[in-house]
Amino acid sequence: MAYFCAPEAARVTGPAPRGRTQSIHHLPRTPLKLATSGAMIVTALLVLACGNGGSGQPADSATNAALVAQGEQIFRFDTFGDESQWSDTLRMHEVIAAAVDPTTALSVGLKVDAEALPAAVVQGIKNGAIDLKSPDTTIALLKLNAVVGLQGKVETIGGKDTLTRVGVTCALCHSTVDDSFAPGIGKRLDGWANRDLNPGAIIALSPALSASKKAVYNSWGKGKYDPRFNLDGINGPQVIPPAFGLTGIHRITSTGDGEDIAYWNRYVGVTQMGGHGSFSEPRTGVNVTNGTDDLITSKLPALQAYQLSLNAPLPPAGNFDPVAAARGQRVFNGAGTCSTCHSGLEMTDANSRLHPVSDVVSEPEPSGVPSYASRSATKQYRTAPLHGLWQHAPYFHNGSAPTLDAVVQTYNTRRSMGLSDGDMADLVVSHRRIDGEFHRCCS
Ligand code: HEC
Ligand code: HEC
Repeated sequence: MAYFCAPEAARVTGPAPRGRTQSIHHLPRTPLKLATSGAMIVTALLVLACGNGGSGQPADSATNAALVAQGEQIFRFDTFGDESQWSDTLRMHEVIAAAVDPTTALSVGLKVDAEALPAAVVQGIKNGAIDLKSPDTTIALLKLNAVVGLQGKVETIGGKDTLTRVGVTCALCHSTVDDSFAPGIGKRLDGWANRDLNPGAIIALSPALSASKKAVYNSWGKGKYDPRFNLDGINGPQVIPPAFGLTGIHRITSTGDGEDIAYWNRYVGVTQMGGHGSFSEPRTGVNVTNGTDDLITSKLPALQAYQLSLNAPLPPAGNFDPVAAARGQRVFNGAGTCSTCHSGLEMTDANSRLHPVSDVVSEPEPSGVPSYASRSATKQYRTAPLHGLWQHAPYFHNGSAPTLDAVVQTYNTRRSMGLSDGDMADLVVSHRRIDGEFHRCCS
């Protein structure tokens, strides 16, 4: 089997290592104030994806390239009109203006796109002249279109920049940054799950929610979101998955609800983000229409093309010992029987079958929550494609395995496999090597 990348692939430029950050000095500060600059925003809009493995699309397809470029804009900046939910209903613009300074925003895992910041702002953050403890600075960052996954409308009211509407985009949960400027501030990494983000804590800031709903949202924690709670009332948050490495996989989500990404994009866009359009699924009885217009359907092909262009990131050099990884690969295909389900280039049998709950080592759910599969359209699980695994702990749909060691231990115990400690250690090392860059390095 050729689905583990050749060791030399690790030398190919991967994402910038974490930790190359610059400190923010503490000097007297003023809130960041900016003149309106359409040009800056346009510049930000034109910044292309980087550091995530590039495009997996054939270079000869100009039409596809155009579609991918369009999809990138949608993924990063399109709210599909979901301001109706985030502003009109949840009143998040008021919360942000009153209480969310950049330090708070970063602490709940929101990310700042350093490439959208003009030089003067970069300088101001570096030397501490810009006050990161003022909500006005957050508004200025929104005006620059620099907060990943948030779109703010800033209007001048009484001579003051005022946040009048706010909405969210796919990038909120499925992009992070490389921290190259400071923790939480750097270049965008689209498709990477934002495991620092605490969506529940953010939603719970809304003044429009009951205390009991707030308690549920506050219970989720970092990197998790329940994309069904608002429909079935069950509190079972899911790990936010990456949106990369999905080429060739025709079962989308951990329960394989849709055959293509567009199915789920419509689901999330309408039922979770609150975008204008419709989603209907007879298998679960979900039937939601927002608004009288449709701001989603026409965007689905481009959005899907963009996601399919996002390859899983290569493991950083030195992430694994190649000799141990090769041994681990043999366990994966042999004694571990892992490849009976994690098969083929996609590392999953999802295109031919799904698995009943009894096949899955991550059930029962933690804390007595009903099975996530039981809430889905298929009532089953998809064998997880393992692309870019090194990058997105914790593992399994419910995040019940905090590390790769815990994954392997769970399999060994739950399936009474009797693997030796050495085999398990090698399996873990081999997992750090899987990157899913088959088209580039392994075929
Ligand atoms: C509030 C956080 C959040 C937002 C915003 C969000 N997602 Fe997701 N996304 C999730 C979660 C959680 C799941 C896991 C659902 C599951 O497996 O049942 C998921 C699953 C997915 C998957 C399935 C991945 C796989 O392995 O099959 C794709 C693709 C995806 N989202 C794309 C998008 C797109 C495109 C948007 C914008 C239209 C979006 N998401 C907006 C949280 C979010
Ligand atoms: C019977 C089929 C089957 C076998 C055999 C199997 N897996 Fe899995 N694997 C799955 C399914 C289904 C999931 C998704 C479970 C979930 O989301 O909770 C999964 C999830 C995983 C994940 C988590 C991926 C992620 O993104 O969170 C890892 C890692 C993994 N398996 C590794 C292994 C290893 C190592 C073995 C062999 C020891 C193995 N699997 C054997 C079906 C299987």
